[in-house]
Amino acid sequence: MAPTTSSTASELRTQQLSDIAASAGTPCYVYDAGAIRDAYATLDGAFDGYPHAIHYALKANSSLAIVKLVQRLGSHADANSPGEVDVAFRCGFRPDQIVFTGVGKSAVEIDRAVSLGLLAINVESPGELDRIDQRAIAQGVRARVALRVNPDIDANSHPHISTGLKSNKFGVPIDEAPALFREMSSRRGLQPVGAHVHIGSQITTLDPLRKAAEAVVALARDLKSEGVELQHLDMGGGLGISYDGSPVVNPSEYVRALVAATRGSGLTVAIEPGRVLVGPAGVQLSRVVDVKQFPGAKRFIVLDAGMTELMRPALYNAFHRITPLVRRDGHEVPVDIVGPICESTDAYARDRNFPPVDVGDIVVVSDVGAYGAVMGHTYLRRPLPPEVLIDGDRASTSLRASWRIIRRRQTLDELLALETE
Ligand SMILES: Cc1ncc(COP(=O)(O)O)c(C=O)c1O
Repeated sequence: MAPTTSSTASELRTQQLSDIAASAGTPCYVYDAGAIRDAYATLDGAFDGYPHAIHYALKANSSLAIVKLVQRLGSHADANSPGEVDVAFRCGFRPDQIVFTGVGKSAVEIDRAVSLGLLAINVESPGELDRIDQRAIAQGVRARVALRVNPDIDANSHPHISTGLKSNKFGVPIDEAPALFREMSSRRGLQPVGAHVHIGSQITTLDPLRKAAEAVVALARDLKSEGVELQHLDMGGGLGISYDGSPVVNPSEYVRALVAATRGSGLTVAIEPGRVLVGPAGVQLSRVVDVKQFPGAKRFIVLDAGMTELMRPALYNAFHRITPLVRRDGHEVPVDIVGPICESTDAYARDRNFPPVDVGDIVVVSDVGAYGAVMGHTYLRRPLPPEVLIDGDRASTSLRASWRIIRRRQTLDELLALETE
């Protein structure tokens, strides 16, 4: 959540989060609409009039209210599954504003994507190219397609979220792309409209992103000389955020680098940002349920939230800032901040210096707006927690900024509703 500017504003924010925790219960996620709008405006403004489309990557956070908020800002959508395509429709995106990506699209999914007339189906392989062509011919249409190229560029991100190396499963090697574009142009059921590249997520340096952009621009130039004219270059998502305060790429600088690389081609630049739009706009509130320490052993702070509510630390060893909502007096000491799940990987932080807390205190985990709630699950029959959206006058130093529950807490009955004994 964006930092507040004065101590009064921060006291009000503390009071507001404390009210939310009391009414919505913990654990819960809290998003700040203003922070999402600001992040969107920064990216959009940096294009400085150059033809572009921002396709919000729904995978980062596909709660209906968040997707609707981004849609109202003028965003387009990047869907990574048929479910996300449907969410995009429900939130008001038109078919020609949606790109559909996915490394393994089933026959049913391809059939449906073709029938919807999306802006582009991002093609992952020669086999998929065939299957889309066949389904389009069967439906009597030409499917708009973009080829996802794999430029073999190291994003220098966590290996689990790097996608642009030869060794990754995504896309087709960029050297194969010209032949595949020629093939697509010759197919009755296909209309190649773009090239797509996405080399990973949480990328914190500009160089790999710029190189990937330059690679697709060079590809488009070569294709043009062969008579294959594209309409857009989809540079994917991936821009990182600073979870721990260390420097990351400035979003405006990133956009300017993409525009600089593309300008000569005159083609529309599409981007698929997720994390950078919504990540810093969300916090997770949880309550301390136990504090324990035995002589000569670690001190554990046990929360009512864990890997079921935030997978990133367990999945990627990811760092999130964690602070008590109200700080008590006393020295910081090293602690493990852990969840209640019966898995040793269920820890948000290890050996982290932390001020004193008591059972019942509220703890704030920062930067959970992206890949937080969406990756939540119900292991141990833990119902999904609520999500809250704060929206209102952020400049005001009153409590006028209002909030509402955008997803209520799941009940155990709802969780079990699909099952029979
Ligand atoms: C194809 C595609 N586009 C966009 C994104 C969004 O990435 P990020 O949230 O890092 O911007 C992802 C996520 O990895 C993705 O797989």
